[in-house]
Amino acid sequence: MPEVKFYGHACVSITEGKYKLIIDPFLNDNPQASAKADSIDVNYILITHGHSDHFGDAISIAKRTGALIIANFELANLCASQGADIHPMHIGGAHNFDFGRVKLTIAHHGGGYGPDASRYTGPPVGFLVTIGGKTIYHSGDTGLFYDMKLIGEMNNIDLAFLPIGDNFTMGIDDAVKAVELLKPKKVVPLHYDTWDIIHSDPKEFASKVKDAEVIILKPGDSITI
Ligand code: NI
Ligand code: MN
Repeated sequence: MPEVKFYGHACVSITEGKYKLIIDPFLNDNPQASAKADSIDVNYILITHGHSDHFGDAISIAKRTGALIIANFELANLCASQGADIHPMHIGGAHNFDFGRVKLTIAHHGGGYGPDASRYTGPPVGFLVTIGGKTIYHSGDTGLFYDMKLIGEMNNIDLAFLPIGDNFTMGIDDAVKAVELLKPKKVVPLHYDTWDIIHSDPKEFASKVKDAEVIILKPGDSITI
């Protein structure tokens, strides 16, 4: 049974036995973060897109720990150019790793990297991670899309991480609809209250979701699924 830990914003880790994955390791510049990058020890780093609040400390963690970076082809190659070991993938593709399986999904968002996000690093993605017999969906930054219905039909999602902060991603009502389409057993809201521009109330989200357990995590909290 994998253990999932929330580090703040959109950063989570998944631990199963000797394997530890971190998704979107935005830590040192993250006002919500429960840990600094130099305390992170992982085998794999998954990055949804190039924006600094997701790419974060990926390179420094990868170089220090030797973790393999899993990202879309363009973003993975950028990571390789900065000295990281990579496994490039792309939307619709899945791969069996030693810890389990990863499949890349679409996400409706931007895909720029750098201080002004001007270097295009391919389309943003979401991740379906199957590990320890559980399927976890991290949507990345995205607006609501109807293919979430297909993702829900084709995968038995145990836990979904979805943004609720609005402005750059889904807000509460669209995220509630996303839960209806994806049909996860559990859902953890992300990507809110890091800054005022993405203020949102996870309790309002929880009160509106039907047919899934909403788990509100504070930075540093972990759950076993
Ligand atoms: Ni973004
Ligand atoms: Mn973001």
